[in-house]
Amino acid sequence: MGEYVIETQDLVKVYKDRSGVVKALDGVSLKVPKAVLFGLFGPNGSGKTTLISILVGLQLPTSGSAQVLGFDCVRESIEVRKRVGLLPENYGFYESMTAYENLEYLGKLDGIPVQELKRRIPEVLELVGLKEWINSKVKSFSRGMTQRLALAQALLKDPEILLLDEPTLGLDPQGSTMFRKLMEEFVKSGKSVLISTHLLHELGYICTQAAFLRKGKLVAQGSIEELAKVYSKEKGYSYELLVAEDVELLVKELMKLEGVIHVSFENDKVRVRASEDISDELASLVGKFRVKAMVPISPTWDELYQFYQGGGWE
Ligand SMILES: Nc1ncnc2c1ncn2[C@@H]1O[C@H](COP(=O)(O)OP(=O)(O)OP(=O)(O)O)[C@@H](O)[C@H]1O
Ligand SMILES: [Mg+2]
Repeated sequence: MGEYVIETQDLVKVYKDRSGVVKALDGVSLKVPKAVLFGLFGPNGSGKTTLISILVGLQLPTSGSAQVLGFDCVRESIEVRKRVGLLPENYGFYESMTAYENLEYLGKLDGIPVQELKRRIPEVLELVGLKEWINSKVKSFSRGMTQRLALAQALLKDPEILLLDEPTLGLDPQGSTMFRKLMEEFVKSGKSVLISTHLLHELGYICTQAAFLRKGKLVAQGSIEELAKVYSKEKGYSYELLVAEDVELLVKELMKLEGVIHVSFENDKVRVRASEDISDELASLVGKFRVKAMVPISPTWDELYQFYQGGGWE
């Protein structure tokens, strides 16, 4: 295995049905490093579920290749499945069976020994906040409770990697907090998580790296800092300065700097937008104008999403 826990090379998936041909994945080369919370971001129909299905061997690629933990997703999908916890888009729990029975059944299918299941099932149900419902039938579960059960199932085999397809659908705020903490601990222990979603305001901030899918193509991937660099080159660099006095004098000075596009201020806060990186120039003004703080404003995941889903890649 190289330095990546998930890797794909020029992955293509074409679905053919009566209504025609759909290119769900169009040459995707993804690289997910170890021990990161990695976001797979893209709108409906961009290919997220298709990509995850290929990684776990539920779908075959039309061309290209994929490896998880160094195992080939087509030829060695059994080895992959042993090590991956999957939260699928559509999980099929048996409504007439209890939470325990469902996990036991699915655990056995995954080859987990019965003794281990006895110990592990209460443990994972506790982790997702469902311990009291261990003997309740799944038909009595709400949407969010079923989602929690799906997360418990993904964690059951104590996997090395989690692949989660829209994991927070239906979770309440406590559920989201529980989810975030679980994921952060998982990653701290050196494991990796791939989360597919279009809910960036909800999940973006917990991811440190991401890939943006658009109509089956990967339009960008990397750390938020790397992605922000490209964004800033095109959209400009923003800074905020906190000033003790002479705000208007400083504003005049800033307008004279090369590359500055826009300066605005409110009370003691000054905002500057520039076409290039002007942090050195700003730093030299810090002493002169009693600037209390000078911070570059990074784009949020939401802004990056809009940017990468936006123009230029048709
Ligand atoms: N089994 C299938 N047969 C035919 N077309 C399919 C099939 N599965 C997916 N597609 C098509 O492939 C494209 C990608 O779908 P996919 O489900 O991978 O997207 P997604 O990003 O997961 O979307 P969502 O956010 O809605 O879950 C879509 O155009 C979809 O209609
Ligand atoms: Mg999907």
